[in-house]
This record gives sequence, structure tokens and C-alpha cells, in this order.
Amino acid sequence: MNMIKSAFASLVLAFITTGAFAAGGDVKHADVEFSFEGPFGVYDRAAVQRGLQIYQGVCSGCHGMKFVAFRTLADENGPGLSNDQIKAFIAEAGYEVEDETGELVPAQTYDYFPAVTGAGAPDMSLLAKARADGAVHIYSILTGYTGEEKEVAGTVLYENTAYPGGWINMAPPLWGDDVEYTDGTEATLEREARDVTQFLMWAAEPTLVERKQAGVRNIIFLIIFAVMLYFVNRRVWAKVKHPE
Ligand code: HEC
Repeated sequence: MNMIKSAFASLVLAFITTGAFAAGGDVKHADVEFSFEGPFGVYDRAAVQRGLQIYQGVCSGCHGMKFVAFRTLADENGPGLSNDQIKAFIAEAGYEVEDETGELVPAQTYDYFPAVTGAGAPDMSLLAKARADGAVHIYSILTGYTGEEKEVAGTVLYENTAYPGGWINMAPPLWGDDVEYTDGTEATLEREARDVTQFLMWAAEPTLVERKQAGVRNIIFLIIFAVMLYFVNRRVWAKVKHPE
């Protein structure tokens, strides 16, 4: 009897703990799709450019991007900026680097986005790749704030349905109308979140489109090759199978 009781107790316990674990890890991902998904997916250049504007204007104060060089903003599959546009972007944003004497000088196109340290915010160079389903994760966090906040040991935490644990140590960075888009697009919260996600995905995986295109080319090649082999095979064996 005792054995049955304790077996029952551990069963109940297991049920409760797995249930609690599932609840703790329960993150709500937004139902969102991006142009770069699927075998023919590509980055939406206008969105990537607007996302760059959001990153620069809103996120770059806390999140660095130390593995991304300014010159890569020329990427045809990404932002596709001209050399002059990149120079103008650097100048307008006022990015600076230290020269060999330690003095701050204007950044050049071959320099990298600054690393931001100390704020406790992860670097964004690879964030979209470092998280499972990274693009959806980023978009969901940006749009997942409930408006609730609490203070824990002097730190304000913000309730966020997409963040593991449900509370994030980042005030809502986007509200809508945070930037005035240079291309005239209306800057709603969802639009901004989508655009900065496009940009961050490109930053983390700039060769995504080339890889997909190579994959599709390989599959087409393999199909043609298979058809060819079929006919060659028939021809080679024709005399054996159907002797005159
Ligand atoms: C005021 C500083 C600040 C700004 C501005 C800011 N963030 Fe954050 N962000 C943080 C901090 C700090 C964390 C870590 C939160 C934590 O550990 O709870 C964070 C975490 C995140 C995460 C979760 C990262 C993970 O570990 O999965 C994402 C996504 C994110 N930020 C995106 C953005 C985007 C996009 C912007 C610009 C629109 C932005 N943040 C602007 C401070 C900031």
C-alpha cells in the first residue's frame, strides 16, 4: 500500500513539475512571416534599409554590432547602399573609431559598427542566428510587451510574453513613430519591428540568399542529371534487354 502511495505521489509530483516547467518556458511567438523564409526567400531591401535606420536610431545605444563592417552595407542582397550613401550614413550617425594614438576620428567604410559594452545588452551582429527561430524571436519580443512592470532588487523588469521567464530587463524600445522613415513609410510598431528584424537577420546571415539560390540551382541540376541518367541507362541496356 505504501509503495502504491509513494508511486502515486511521485507521479503527481512529476506531473506538477513538468507542468510548471512547461509554463515557465512558455514563450508566445507572434504569427509573422518574412520575405526571406522559404527556398526562394530574399531580403526585402527597402525593409532592410528602414531596419538599419531603426537599429541606428533606437537600438545602437545599447546593442553593439561589432562583427558588421560599414562597407558590407553595400551588399546587393541586403541594404544595397552605394559607397557615397555609406559614407553619408557614417557621417550623419557620427560613428567614430580610435586611431593608433587613441584619438577618436571619424569612422571609414572599412571600419566596424561599435561594440557597446556595459549596458548588459547582447551584441546584435549574430543575435538573429544565436536564438532558435531568431527572426520570429526578435519580432515577438519587440511586440510582446504587456505594459506591466515590476521592480526586483532595484531593477525594473518589463513583462514580455515572448521572453523566457516572462520578464525582460529592457524597456520597450519601440512604440511606433520612433523614427521618421526617410522613404515615407508609416512607422507603426509592427512595421518598425518587422524592419529591424529584416535588418538584424541580414546582419547575422548576409549570405542567406546566395545559399538559397545555390541550393535551388543544385536541385535543378540534379533533376536534369537524373533525367539524363535515365535515358542514358535505357540506351546502354537497350541491346541487352531487347536483342533483335
Ligand atoms: C536602453 C538600452 C536598450 C535599448 C535602446 C535596446 N535594448 Fe534590447 N536589450 C537591452 C538589454 C539590457 C537586454 C537584456 C535583457 C535581459 O537580459 O533581460 C536586451 C535584450 C534584447 C533582446 C533579447 C535578446 C536575447 O537574449 O534573446 C532583443 C531581441 C532586443 N534586446 C532587441 C532590441 C532592439 C531590436 C532594439 C532597438 C529597436 C533594442 N533592443 C533596444 C537593452 C536595450
